[in-house]
Amino acid sequence: MKTNINGINISYTDQGQGDPLIFIHAFPLSSTMWKPQIKEFSKNYRVTAFDLRGHGDSDAPLWNFTLDDFAADLHGLLRHLGIAQATFVGLSMGGYTLFAFLRKYPELVTKLVLADTRAQADTDEGKAGRFTMAQVAYREGPPAIADMMMPKLLSPASLENRKDLVEQVRSSILKNQASGIIVDLMAMAQRPDSTPLLSTISCPTLVIVGEDDVATPPAEAQYMADRISGSHLVTIPQAGHLTNLEQPEKFNGALKSFLEKHSVSA
Ligand code: MLT
Repeated sequence: MKTNINGINISYTDQGQGDPLIFIHAFPLSSTMWKPQIKEFSKNYRVTAFDLRGHGDSDAPLWNFTLDDFAADLHGLLRHLGIAQATFVGLSMGGYTLFAFLRKYPELVTKLVLADTRAQADTDEGKAGRFTMAQVAYREGPPAIADMMMPKLLSPASLENRKDLVEQVRSSILKNQASGIIVDLMAMAQRPDSTPLLSTISCPTLVIVGEDDVATPPAEAQYMADRISGSHLVTIPQAGHLTNLEQPEKFNGALKSFLEKHSVSA
């Protein structure tokens, strides 16, 4: 389905009934990365996943946007769907988006899941890497970005042995337009340090990380968990950055336990 939010056609899926559960995807992917979670959790929850602007089937505007715009689009989508409060699950750039959302709308977040992400802003070296990648995206397009990103997204074992998964992730990257990828990179380079936000998070929080994540390593997850009061950290074995796709059963198990532990009727 599509709806126009903030002048952008945003593509989303909305399935199941129950407490709302919202999934926000990573760079440079789309909501299709949440297929294993949509299938499982739509049995008992209202599950919404959407393509951030510049991704998948949403518009890729040819102008500057920031993570605050992602957060504003998320807010607009919730209003469109009549969702007042929800549990939010963000992986990597999805987590950065949730930090932007939390800065503005903390009262809308009843439970929070931060998967394979980090609170800190980019270092100068990290920013320089974004600008280099943006140049590559401009000159050579999404296929070159897929080549650069695959070793960061999946563990060496998945790259070697799971050709189906490699193909799925690669084709999701290729569906994005270069303009969306380039502006994402600028948006991530500009994002503020969210470390000060961590101690203000008061809702139940689950932090998930793949033990072989090289993009946002386990130390980053520990850093967040240490600063979010009462949070729970789950490290998923035999997974790189895309824990939900590399180990869907373990990811879903961790999310299910968290949701059940903190359900209103529990
Ligand atoms: C992501 O998966 O969203 C990216 O690896 C995030 C980043 O590049 O910082």
